[in-house]
Amino acid sequence: MIKTLEWTSAGVVFIDQTKLPTEETYVTCKTYQEVADAIVTMIVRGAPAIGVAAAMGVALGTNQAQANTIAELRPQFEKICDDLAATRPTAVNLFWAIRRMKDKFSEVDSQPVAQIKSELIKEAQRMYIEDIAACEAMGRNGAVLLPKSGGVLTHCNAGALATCGYGTALGVIRSAVSSGSKINVYADETRPFLQGSRLTAWELQHDGIPTTVIADNMAGAMMRLGKINAVIVGADRIAANGDVANKIGTYSVAILAKEHNIPFYVAAPWSTIDLATATGEQIPIEQRSPKEVTHHAGKQVAPTGIAVENPAFDVTPNKYIAAIITERGVAKAPYSESLRALEKAETVTA
Ligand code: MRU
Repeated sequence: MIKTLEWTSAGVVFIDQTKLPTEETYVTCKTYQEVADAIVTMIVRGAPAIGVAAAMGVALGTNQAQANTIAELRPQFEKICDDLAATRPTAVNLFWAIRRMKDKFSEVDSQPVAQIKSELIKEAQRMYIEDIAACEAMGRNGAVLLPKSGGVLTHCNAGALATCGYGTALGVIRSAVSSGSKINVYADETRPFLQGSRLTAWELQHDGIPTTVIADNMAGAMMRLGKINAVIVGADRIAANGDVANKIGTYSVAILAKEHNIPFYVAAPWSTIDLATATGEQIPIEQRSPKEVTHHAGKQVAPTGIAVENPAFDVTPNKYIAAIITERGVAKAPYSESLRALEKAETVTA
């Protein structure tokens, strides 16, 4: 299995996603600041993965804090949480994970400092295991929705590399393929960061799942030619009404799917659902460096000084979404009701 991230005695280890697909190298972050940098520079990326990375960063930083008493530890813990929360704004998993570490801290704050540190490490490790289990449950819940054979389009990377393992959208594909479906995945290259061509294609090839890379502007033509039977993507934040923030370009794919009568599915763990945010309008969208657009593979591809926009995510309104697949079950419209109902449900276990 691909190891996206791992807690080790030497620090938090990440596969360096900026180097894939040509180099498989690993980075060991020895301090929480290094973990924060790894999230900002996208050595680790993908909503569930950055959530667990942040939790591990909190555990790492707190474990290294010089403190003999809770009064000395608490302000350091809070600064670590604030610094990690400031890394990326859109994926709610990051804030969910930090919240969970804060809740654990409050639960154990009457214990000796060494015990608090060890409880935080255990909590981060638990989140890692739970994330993989959630992906596997999503896979089981969603596999039946995919065609028994044909083309399935995905955008960005919602795979093992975006999670602690197995993946959300790619987890559903993996599960369908292991139950015998003959799927050819179409991977949008996903400009400007190329998560589709660099990461999705790499990990599906690794697993021997037939995959075809297309430039983003080819998706409509592939649909028109009848090569796509379903679309499945991940999510960075899902509002209470089912609006979905995901990688820039997802919205265009959803509209294309609607026009061609192709079902458009979203797979995401419960940690991506943000019932406190009413609609997609309120989801903060990360703006990244213009250089990601003006430069490609180190070469300038736009005139110096040209105006650039580089929002990293867009919002797909709920009306385009055929179903939201979670580890707790599958939600369908009206999402404001189905997501609330799933809030009370348990994770579906094997
Ligand atoms: O900017 P990224 O690469 O972190 O964006 C990732 C995505 O948009 C993914 O589709 C999303 O996080 C779902 S991952 C299971």
